[in-house]
Amino acid sequence: MSILVSKFCFGILFAAAYAQATSVLDCLDANKVPYVTSSSTDWTAYQIPFNLRLPFEPAVITVPENEAQVSASITCAAAASLKVQAKGGGHSYASFSSGGQNGSLIIEMENFAEITVDPTTFIVKIGAGQRLGNIATEIYAQGKRAMPHGTCAGVGIAGHALHGGYGYDSRKWGLALDHVVGLDVVLADGTSVYTNATTNPDLFWAMRGAGDSFGIATNFYMQTEAAPESVLYFVADLSASLSSAENAATGFEVLQNWSFTSPDLTPNITFGTYADFTKSFIIRGWCMDCDEAVFTKSVFPGMLAGFPGYVPTVQNLDWITALVDLAGENLTQPLGHLYTEHDTFYAKSVVSKEAEPLSHASLVSYWNYLIANLGNKQWFSIINLYGAPGSLINAVSPDESAYSDRDSLWVFQNYGYTGTEPWDPTITPLIDGMNNATIVPQPDGDFGAYLNYVDPDLSPAEAHLEYYGASTYDKLLGLKAKFDPGFVFWNPQAIGTSMAL
Ligand SMILES: Cc1cc2nc3c(=O)[nH]c(=O)nc-3n(C[C@H](O)[C@H](O)[C@H](O)COP(=O)(O)OP(=O)(O)OC[C@H]3O[C@@H](n4cnc5c(N)ncnc54)[C@H](O)[C@@H]3O)c2cc1C
Ligand SMILES: *[C@@H]1O[C@H](CO)[C@@H](O)[C@H](O)[C@H]1NC(C)=O
Ligand SMILES: *[C@@H]1O[C@H](CO)[C@@H](O)[C@H](O)[C@H]1NC(C)=O
Ligand SMILES: *[C@@H]1O[C@H](CO)[C@@H](O)[C@H](O)[C@H]1NC(C)=O
Ligand SMILES: *[C@@H]1O[C@H](CO)[C@@H](O)[C@H](O)[C@H]1NC(C)=O
Ligand SMILES: *[C@@H]1O[C@H](CO)[C@@H](O)[C@H](O)[C@H]1NC(C)=O
Ligand SMILES: *[C@@H]1O[C@H](CO)[C@@H](O)[C@H](O)[C@H]1NC(C)=O
Repeated sequence: MSILVSKFCFGILFAAAYAQATSVLDCLDANKVPYVTSSSTDWTAYQIPFNLRLPFEPAVITVPENEAQVSASITCAAAASLKVQAKGGGHSYASFSSGGQNGSLIIEMENFAEITVDPTTFIVKIGAGQRLGNIATEIYAQGKRAMPHGTCAGVGIAGHALHGGYGYDSRKWGLALDHVVGLDVVLADGTSVYTNATTNPDLFWAMRGAGDSFGIATNFYMQTEAAPESVLYFVADLSASLSSAENAATGFEVLQNWSFTSPDLTPNITFGTYADFTKSFIIRGWCMDCDEAVFTKSVFPGMLAGFPGYVPTVQNLDWITALVDLAGENLTQPLGHLYTEHDTFYAKSVVSKEAEPLSHASLVSYWNYLIANLGNKQWFSIINLYGAPGSLINAVSPDESAYSDRDSLWVFQNYGYTGTEPWDPTITPLIDGMNNATIVPQPDGDFGAYLNYVDPDLSPAEAHLEYYGASTYDKLLGLKAKFDPGFVFWNPQAIGTSMAL
């Protein structure tokens, strides 16, 4: 009986989905846009998201080869009342590049793969389907150039650089987003435009921070930096201070005080702590173009002074080796549907403010929570330094782009996972509690969330307030009405899914 009922229900669902899909497919056929659907043999390779916890089923995935086909993908979707999201590297924590719901039209950007450094301006043109490791390798090969960006080679440039993009070079060079000097964008009405700070400046402002809601970037133009001659990759084992929450919290507080007051914290230094369920607790980071002896003998001991029994390691590396060692994987990564790495996970972030350093009570509560959950499920927690004196992230005005967090100090990433096993729903409250452990003891902390760690469990209004703040969000809402009045570019937290704040 129950089997018959489900079969009946599926029949209805398929009929409805099919009726909607045929008109969009007719339109795509008429415009000669390559696409895959659930009846294609390689559908799974295209449909499977990085985060297996949220496997949404798109109505259709287009695989355009040029801007005209991106444009037709958008206008065909709009005509069929389908929502649109682009898929870059596919690493959205909320699977927004699979739509964030079933039944969207996804534009897989894997054919946009160019990486060309202009030899006079050192601006690199990057196709929106590219991944960080390939880009780092290519721009270094084309004139020893470099850019700030995240650790993992498989992350896509598109989602990353439109919504932030932090690495261990970010206090020196800023975010990946800050290196975007121009974009080729296809808009909701299907028109293609170039945008930069002076051409379509409103669009340029909105794309950098809310690109998912404003258009499909096809190419990025990014200012590169001369790669450093050397990188000190420093790591210290801090697990001895897990003997008590008080020890770990005091060690961190000394580090925080050092960050605000020590002349040794130059912008050349960016770092973070990492702790996980296996009782690992380390600090790691980079000092770019730094003197190894000075760093090892005086700078590093100053950072670590509050942690009992720390065990430091400092390696002097060339740029590419530093990237490979940090990534722990090959920098060369396959694009689009040929990529095969996945995880099953839930993550949340906490962004703290420079004006409100983490309190002793907050730090003790955080470490108590972590220590209490050692050996319980699989999780890690990272605290990265974004701010403190000299940080290039915070040297940018909050009005310069829709990425308005320009006064942050620490950014936490609390991440629970099951890998290839099915999701364990008890991990969700475990991660939620990890955030609360930091936030609740510091009610005046003015905490927010990081755009690139999208948290699907936030309501739209919570997400908008935590990611953007009210004034940036309200400005984005006005521009959404101008550039995408039909809400074609949509995910559950897109601009416009909450009222004005
Ligand atoms: C293993 C791992 C490591 C990470 N490490 C870091 C790190 O070190 N530092 C850091 O800052 N972040 C890090 N992140 C977070 C990462 O920056 C974000 O997940 C980022 O948005 C991923 O970009 P993507 O292109 O791979 O994602 P996608 O899922 O393809 O895209 C993310 C969002 O951007 C939209 N989008 C994609 N392409 C386009 C386009 N062409 N035009 C308009 N919108 C587009 C998508 O629709 C989606 O809404 C990490 C994530 C993972 C999974
Ligand atoms: C989305 O589709 C998947 C796969 O077909 C299905 O398991 C899931 O229940 C659907 N989700 C919703 C909200 O309909
Ligand atoms: C923006 O692009 C236009 C057209 O290519 C160019 O003339 C202008 O100098 C650019 N503006 C900036 C700030 O780079
Ligand atoms: C950190 O600095 C604050 C403010 O100066 C001070 O009150 C606190 O005692 C310091 N913490 C440690 C552990 O040194
Ligand atoms: C920081 O890097 C620059 C090169 O970019 C170098 O000249 C300077 O000596 C470095 N500063 C320190 C303190 O190591
Ligand atoms: C990285 O991948 C490339 C391309 O697949 C391959 O040629 C190379 O040998 C790999 N390098 C390492 C260190 O695995
Ligand atoms: C975390 O705090 C929120 C807001 O106060 C609350 O709704 C939630 O239940 C808390 N979660 C846990 C696991 O404590």
